[in-house]
Amino acid sequence: MPDNITIAVSKGRIYDDAMPLLAKLGIVPIDDPNSTRKLVLETNQPNIRLLVIRATDVPTYVERGAAELGIAGKDVLMEYSGDGLYEPIDLGIAKCRMMLAGLKDAKPILDRPRVVTKYTNITKNYFAERGQQVEIIKLYGSMELGPVLGLSDWIVDLVDTGNTLKANGLVTLEHIADISSRLVVNKAAMKMKNATIKPILDQLSDIVS
Ligand code: ATP
Ligand code: PRP
Repeated sequence: MPDNITIAVSKGRIYDDAMPLLAKLGIVPIDDPNSTRKLVLETNQPNIRLLVIRATDVPTYVERGAAELGIAGKDVLMEYSGDGLYEPIDLGIAKCRMMLAGLKDAKPILDRPRVVTKYTNITKNYFAERGQQVEIIKLYGSMELGPVLGLSDWIVDLVDTGNTLKANGLVTLEHIADISSRLVVNKAAMKMKNATIKPILDQLSDIVS
């Protein structure tokens, strides 16, 4: 009898990029998250279901064992402070870069630089490693507005095409990290449900290698 497995995934780009990978394993959700209000999606595999949750909540569900597996961006995993997760596979999806950016025509910064970001831990660690004092201001979205409205000097955010930065008169200043989505696994489940989880990991590794 295969173990019951719950996979936590966020709606949007990660879901869209992850489903073709799961389909190659023969796992296909029965409902489409865009046309149902259900947050738990059954799949064609009776023992496998998907949880559709916020991207930032995926590590919490998996670390605490509410889901055995999850798919989360490296940005979310770097920002998360738990240590109860295995991160065995880089799925190579939802690729982008974590960047420091600022106004194209910035005035000289005379004081401690102010940085807006939703990634406060990553930003704190980045500047601490460089020994640079900054003031970090937490925002939950539209970080690009920070420098435009004089709320900050810099932003730390994700960049893919660069279109969002460009459209708001910003340029990249420094590369902080390459980002892609990873499979994460609950540590206890890796042992207790190994017979079911190991083949999933092996097949996913083959598919993305
Ligand atoms: P939440 O809804 O929880 O605030 P979010 O709005 O960041 O999360 P998405 O925009 O779907 O959710 O992003 C999910 C993940 O996709 C991010 O954690 C990151 O790893 C990746 N990602 C975000 N923006 C881009 C982008 N422009 N290009 C490629 N990947 C991206
Ligand atoms: C992400 C990120 C940037 C944008 C970068 O936002 O926060 O704003 O993508 O992508 P680009 O370099 O290709 O323009 P997203 O599209 O997820 O919007 P949201 O964070 O407001 O959900």
